[in-house]
Amino acid sequence: MKLDHILHGGDYNPEQWLDRPDILEKDITYMKEAGINTVTLGVFSWAVLEPSEGEYNFQWLEDIINRLYENGISTILATPSGARPKWMADKYPEVLRVRQDRQRNLFGGRHNHCYTSPVYREKVAMIDEHLAKRFANHPAILMWHISNEFGGDCHCPLCQEAFRQWLKDKYETIDRLNQCWCTTFWSHIYQSFDQIESPSLVGESAVHGLNLDWKRFVSEKTAEFVRHEIAALRQGGAKQPTTVNLMYDFEGLNYDKLAECVDVISWDSYPVWHKGADIVPALDNGLQHDYMRSLKNQPYLLMESCPSGTNWHGISKLKRPGLLTAASLQAIAHGSDSVLYFQIRQSRGSSEKFHGAVIDHYGGDDTRVFREVKYIGESLKKLSEVAGSEVCAKAAIIYDTENRWAMEDSQGPRNDGLHYHENLMKMYTALKRQGINVDIISESKSLEKYSLVLAPMLYMFRENMEERIEAYVRKGGCFVLGHWSGITDEWDRCYLGGTPYGLMDVFGLRRSETDALYEYEHNSLIPEGGSMFQNEYSCSTICDLLQVKDAQVLMKYGKEFYAGIPAVTKKLYGQGQAYYIGTDAQQEFYDVLCEKLVHELGIERAVSGDIPKDVEVCTRSLGQTEYVFVQNYRNSDMDIRGMELNGELLYGKSKETLHAYETIVLKQKK
Ligand code: GAL
Repeated sequence: MKLDHILHGGDYNPEQWLDRPDILEKDITYMKEAGINTVTLGVFSWAVLEPSEGEYNFQWLEDIINRLYENGISTILATPSGARPKWMADKYPEVLRVRQDRQRNLFGGRHNHCYTSPVYREKVAMIDEHLAKRFANHPAILMWHISNEFGGDCHCPLCQEAFRQWLKDKYETIDRLNQCWCTTFWSHIYQSFDQIESPSLVGESAVHGLNLDWKRFVSEKTAEFVRHEIAALRQGGAKQPTTVNLMYDFEGLNYDKLAECVDVISWDSYPVWHKGADIVPALDNGLQHDYMRSLKNQPYLLMESCPSGTNWHGISKLKRPGLLTAASLQAIAHGSDSVLYFQIRQSRGSSEKFHGAVIDHYGGDDTRVFREVKYIGESLKKLSEVAGSEVCAKAAIIYDTENRWAMEDSQGPRNDGLHYHENLMKMYTALKRQGINVDIISESKSLEKYSLVLAPMLYMFRENMEERIEAYVRKGGCFVLGHWSGITDEWDRCYLGGTPYGLMDVFGLRRSETDALYEYEHNSLIPEGGSMFQNEYSCSTICDLLQVKDAQVLMKYGKEFYAGIPAVTKKLYGQGQAYYIGTDAQQEFYDVLCEKLVHELGIERAVSGDIPKDVEVCTRSLGQTEYVFVQNYRNSDMDIRGMELNGELLYGKSKETLHAYETIVLKQKK
C-alpha cells in the first residue's frame, strides 16, 4: 500500500452514540479541526451489526462512513470478530474459549473465542462477507482491519483434535514425535497421536517439545483464522489491503506467521512514560517499531496510541506537554505511515471510560490534549512527503519469538529471570546511540544485506541457523553472538558435542560451563592487552566460561574461581569477523563495542558529531532523498550544536537547540 500522505486519526465507536446524533455531528467538526483524515470503525460492533442471528443492521455504519467521507475522512473498516454477541455464545457454546484447565469460559470480555470452532468460523465468514459486499466498493474504505489484537489459545476438544492432526502431519509416526520431544524422560512416551493433549498446568507441562509445538500450532491456527477472514472479505468483493494490529513485546504468537497473511503490519503502542528518563521507554518503543517494520520490511502503521493517559497501566500518568507529539513523530521516524489513536471519543461507561481520548467526557475542543492532537495534525501535513519512504538499515539484531519461548521454558541456569529483554535493549541502545537504523529480525530472515548482526541470547537454533551464521561470516559479515547461545535445537533438545553448536570453529572456542549469578552479584570484565577495550566493565546474570582454541581473547573474567578465564573473544573467519560475548555486560561495554564496529565497518551515520544520550536519530529515505529525524526526549531544552547536522529543515526551527520533547526533521541528499 503506497500512501501519499500520513494517516491521522484512530479508533472511533459511533455505535456507542447512536442515540446522540448531535454528538456524532460535533465529532466530525472536531475531527476536521484536528486534521484527522482516517478513522477505524467497527472493531467491536458485532452486537449492533447483527443484533440477532442473520439479521444484519449496517445502515448506521453506512451513514457514518458517508458523513465522514463527505468531510474528507476515510475509514479503515474492521471485521468484528474480536468480540461476539451474546446470542451467539448462548446458542453455540462451542464458540467460547476453553482454558488450559479444561474449563469453558462463560460469555464475557473479548477475544474469548475458539479459532477452530466451525460455527465461529462460519459466523465470522458470513458477517465479513456481508460487510465486504456492502462496503467493498465504497471509496471511503482504505483497508480492512482483521479482528483485533489476536492472542490466546483454546483447549477445547475441537482444538485438541486439530492439534493431533497437525502433529500427525508434522511427524507422520509417533516414534518420531517421541524422539523429538524426548518423552522417555519421566516415562512420558506416547503410543499413538490420539493420546496427546495440549499442555496444561493440571496435566502435562514438562515436555518442552510439546510446549513449543503447541505454541507453533496456536500461531498457525491463528494465522489460518486470519486467512479465513481475508478469504471471506475477498469473496464479498473486497480489494483493499488488509492488516492485523499487533501488540507490544507480545510473545503469545509468532508474528512472522501473521505477517505472511496480511498486506500491511500495524501495531498498538502504549509505552509507560515519565518513570525516570524518557529516553528509556523511547528506545524500548523504538525497538518495537523496528521489529514491526522489519516483519515485512516496508512501511507499516501505528494503529493505536493513547492521546493522554491510559487506564490500564499500574499508574496511568498524563503525557507531559509535547510528549504525545514526540511519540507520534517517533512512529513516523521508524517507518510508520500513520499516527492513529485509541480513541477519538472517550466511551461513557464500562472498562475503558477513563482511557485517554482525543475528545473526552467534557466534549469540547478547548482542551490541552485536543490542542496537541491538532498540532500533530498540522505537523503530519508538513511531513506528508515522507509517507511511503523506506527505512534502510545496515545493522540488525536477531529477536526470535520461538527462541524466547524455548529459553523461558527451558529450566536452565536462571529461573528467576534471564533478563533477556534487558540484554536485547542494551545491544539495541548501543546501536541507536550511534544514530543508525536497526532492523529487528527473526531467525527465519536472511542476514546477507547487513554489515553487522548482533544476536543476544540465541539459545535455540532453528532453520539451520548455525549454517547461515557460518556462511554470513565467511562471506564477510560481522556477527556478534551473545551469551547462552547455540544450546538447543528446534525441539529444545540440547546439542551434543559442544556449543555454540556448529560454530565452534567460526568463533574459535567452546562454552565449557555456565554460571548463574544472584541479582545482587556481579563479576567483572578485564581487558586483555591489545584488545579494543581499555576499561574494566561489570557483568551480571549469566557467565559462560569459554575454552578458547584460536580466537583472540578481548576480555577475561576478573572474579570468582573463573577469574582469568576468557569472557569476550573475536575471531577472523573467512572474510568476516565473529565476536562472542559470554556474559551480560553493563551498557557501556556494548556502547564501546558498537561504536568501534560501526566505525570500522563503515556503516554510515546520518550525523557525524556526538549524539546526546537523550536524543534519538532515525532516517527514512526516498530515492536519493534522506529524511533525518532528531528527537529530544528530555523535558528541557538541549544544545545540539555538537551533532553537526546537515540538510535543510523540513520540520522544526533550529539546528542548534531542541526544546523539551521537540523533534526536527532534516532533508538531505544521500
Ligand atoms: C488495545 C485494544 C483497544 C483498547 C486499547 C486500550 O490493546 O486493541 O481496543 O482496548 O488497548 O489501551
